[in-house]
Amino acid sequence: MEKLVIQKSRNLNGDVTIGGAKNSVLKLMAASILAEEKCIIHNVPDLQDVRVMVDILKDIGMEVSWDKKEHVLDIIPAKEINSKPDYELVQRMRASIVTMGPLLARTKKAILAQPGGCAIGERKIDLHVKGMTALGAEVTHTHGYVVAEAEKLVGSTIYLDFPSVGATENIMMAAVLAEGVTVIENCAKEPEITDLANFLNSLGAQVKGAGTDTIRVTGVEKLGGTEHSVLPDRIEAGTYMVAAAVAGGDVKIKNIMPNHLKSITAKLIEAGVDVKVFDDSIEIKSDGNLHSVDIKTLPYPGFPTDLQAPFMALNIVADGVATITETIFENRFMHATEFTIMGADIKVEGHSAIIQGTKDIEGANVKATDLRAGAALVIAALVADGETRVHNIYHIDRGYADFEEKLRNIGVDIKRVE
Ligand code: EPZ
Repeated sequence: MEKLVIQKSRNLNGDVTIGGAKNSVLKLMAASILAEEKCIIHNVPDLQDVRVMVDILKDIGMEVSWDKKEHVLDIIPAKEINSKPDYELVQRMRASIVTMGPLLARTKKAILAQPGGCAIGERKIDLHVKGMTALGAEVTHTHGYVVAEAEKLVGSTIYLDFPSVGATENIMMAAVLAEGVTVIENCAKEPEITDLANFLNSLGAQVKGAGTDTIRVTGVEKLGGTEHSVLPDRIEAGTYMVAAAVAGGDVKIKNIMPNHLKSITAKLIEAGVDVKVFDDSIEIKSDGNLHSVDIKTLPYPGFPTDLQAPFMALNIVADGVATITETIFENRFMHATEFTIMGADIKVEGHSAIIQGTKDIEGANVKATDLRAGAALVIAALVADGETRVHNIYHIDRGYADFEEKLRNIGVDIKRVE
């Protein structure tokens, strides 16, 4: 199995160019199922999860060509839409659940592998089901499949008990071809929701209020095609911001929307990092001596759960005690055990982790437990004494394109070995 081998690497220097957002492009690709003409998507990151979604769209019957060099996807609508994409493919990625809304809207049927739980939590879909049912679908679970069927989808008002990102997206996509108006209340406000709404509107849909806690969709007859560029990946950007803060140095994170990183910027400044914000880039200057910062993950615009692990890597070497509270997922502290192997002082109590910073972090054999945890272990390796070997790096490849290259370009001693 491949692993990453990292030596201590301080005083990083140079630029990191950020790619398109994983947690947007996967949804835009699903939304292309709704289009009756060609969709061209730019700024597509070269990620494992994108490869899976390409294969799912092909299995649905669409023609997909991907120019990885130019980061462009060309998607031609299916002549005949297959409402039951391959079980194995759908199972590989939680995000495939958002093909339910589009398939239901186009073919009145969606038969998807029941999404398995994953390491960080049960990942229920009850809010997705609540939305589809409210629009007139009947949803059943049989033989490991989730089956959604509807003679006709009719607009309705849906209150989300939790501002679920995926449920908001799935319902939005089912509603764009439903009859009448759909209102989604207490919906997610992440920038990726707005990117999807912009994509849908460019196809000819009528989606209003994305980015607020109430989205209003007026159904239309059919949707055309479009050309759209994926918004920058705020989580990839935040990951490199933390790496530069922890290792120390002077690093510029480019091709981003700084507005989407306000909570990260605020927390890094609190930790004693010099953060300069420009139009489409952020410069991080740090001597590596950081203060501990308390973190509580919340729905956007609160602190993102996907950067909780990288900030734990910061806190294990900071000069104080920090409390990290994870409110989004029920089991997203598995990286704490790996950090402890490196010498970190962490006590996990329920949804909180208490971290006593220490300079005595040493290289070790550790394993990635999800993609963000994997990246966080690499960040800790930058300041660990000796060599660190991170295993199970297939997790990292799901969400970080050109990971080693981007780190090597700013001075990190890292290599991928069999
Ligand atoms: C998206 O997952 C992201 N994934 C996650 O990023 C991210 O952590 C999460 O949003 C929160 O921001 C993609 O966009 C592909 P949710 P999603 O529905 O849509 C519970 C990464 O590292 N819930 O907002 O699955 C759920 O169990 C990944 O890139 C229900 O209870 O997130 C979880 O505890 C990890 N019922 C919480 O809500 C439902 O029907 C947040 O889930 C749906 C969700």
